[in-house]
Amino acid sequence: MFNSRLAQRLNLRYPIIQAPCAPYSIEAVVAEVSNAGGLGSLSAALFSPAKIRDSIREIKRLTNNPFAVNLFAPPAISPVPDDFTNKKRYISDKVLDTFRGELGIETPDRYTPRSYPFEDQLSVLLEEGCPVFSFTFGEMPDGVIAKLKGAGTFVIGTATTVHEASVLVNRPNQQDAVDAIIAQGYEAGGHRGKFDSTKIESQLGTMSLLPQVVDAVGHKVPVIAAGGISDPRSVLASFMLGADAAALGTLFMLSKSTILPSYHREALMNSQPEATQLTRAFTGRYARGITNRFIEKIHEACTGEDDIPSYDIHSARTMDISAKAKEDGKGGDYASMWSGQSFAVAKAFTENGTLTATETLEKLVSGVEELKKKFVSTA
Ligand SMILES: Cc1cc2nc3c(=O)[nH]c(=O)nc-3n(C[C@H](O)[C@H](O)[C@H](O)COP(=O)(O)O)c2cc1C
Repeated sequence: MFNSRLAQRLNLRYPIIQAPCAPYSIEAVVAEVSNAGGLGSLSAALFSPAKIRDSIREIKRLTNNPFAVNLFAPPAISPVPDDFTNKKRYISDKVLDTFRGELGIETPDRYTPRSYPFEDQLSVLLEEGCPVFSFTFGEMPDGVIAKLKGAGTFVIGTATTVHEASVLVNRPNQQDAVDAIIAQGYEAGGHRGKFDSTKIESQLGTMSLLPQVVDAVGHKVPVIAAGGISDPRSVLASFMLGADAAALGTLFMLSKSTILPSYHREALMNSQPEATQLTRAFTGRYARGITNRFIEKIHEACTGEDDIPSYDIHSARTMDISAKAKEDGKGGDYASMWSGQSFAVAKAFTENGTLTATETLEKLVSGVEELKKKFVSTA
């Protein structure tokens, strides 16, 4: 398809990555994409260490091809036990309590952390072995990447700015530098990998970010494009802008191979193209999703940065609400529906979500080949 450094290095038939989409990128879809010649990615960030072990074993049972496991980088400042009580309340907590009232649930005395300890998750990866490890939300602690590389794992980090890409590639100890970088543009669905101090509204779209990341670090490591890529046109455009591979989240999430719940799928089928926005409403970290009542009410009440606490604290405080709403069939109003800006393109390309992940990948590859012919014949 393309003479890609990444495809050669990882022995992939196609430089196409099914980007991790927690909690929908389950073992079966990961193996399906890897078996079809792309790179499947397991979104394991919210998994317990035991579940990560089972999932890696299951994927290895389903495919002999390379696959990736994705985790969140641990926070620079770890939460303390009091953060999981109501000792300190935030403006967002008032809105969360209103939601609880509507759903008939009590405010918990203690909240369950959303993430398992990173060190425990990492230990499983090292014990089980996985061909590719990808991460988002920042830098890995010193020594982690060196250990993974020592175990034969190829390591991919996520950058949303040129500066972040440079930080991940040029670590003081080169053994801790990533092997490849994802340039995640503003269009991307789900959480932003952002970890530098750039203002969120100043972040760049894929068309601007990608060539600048390629110019800054592409001579050292392969660059993977992510954000708004949902059909052959945008895959080819990424390669033209210097990418070694394209990572597609929303597109594969919409394929029928994932466990996307019906309220989320329906929202993607029926929303206007402008329906997504960036929000801290669900987790305290900026993420792109379809606007719903939960987002609107939190945004109305929380106008300052400090009105919503950071990821570990806020994401623990919203879990009971999402769980009860889903149980009551009200996920569309109260749960997150992460999506990239090109969800309507993904909808059309997957024929309203009726294609499998394999069919989606095959259609992408043949579409890119067709476009290449057209491009060459009219040049
Ligand atoms: C539902 C959803 C969940 C996501 N979860 C993760 C995750 O766990 N880890 C991660 O690195 N990226 C996550 N992302 C971001 C994707 O990996 C990828 O960067 C993004 O989907 C690319 O933009 P696109 O959606 O326009 O294709 C998520 C995206 C979505 C839509």
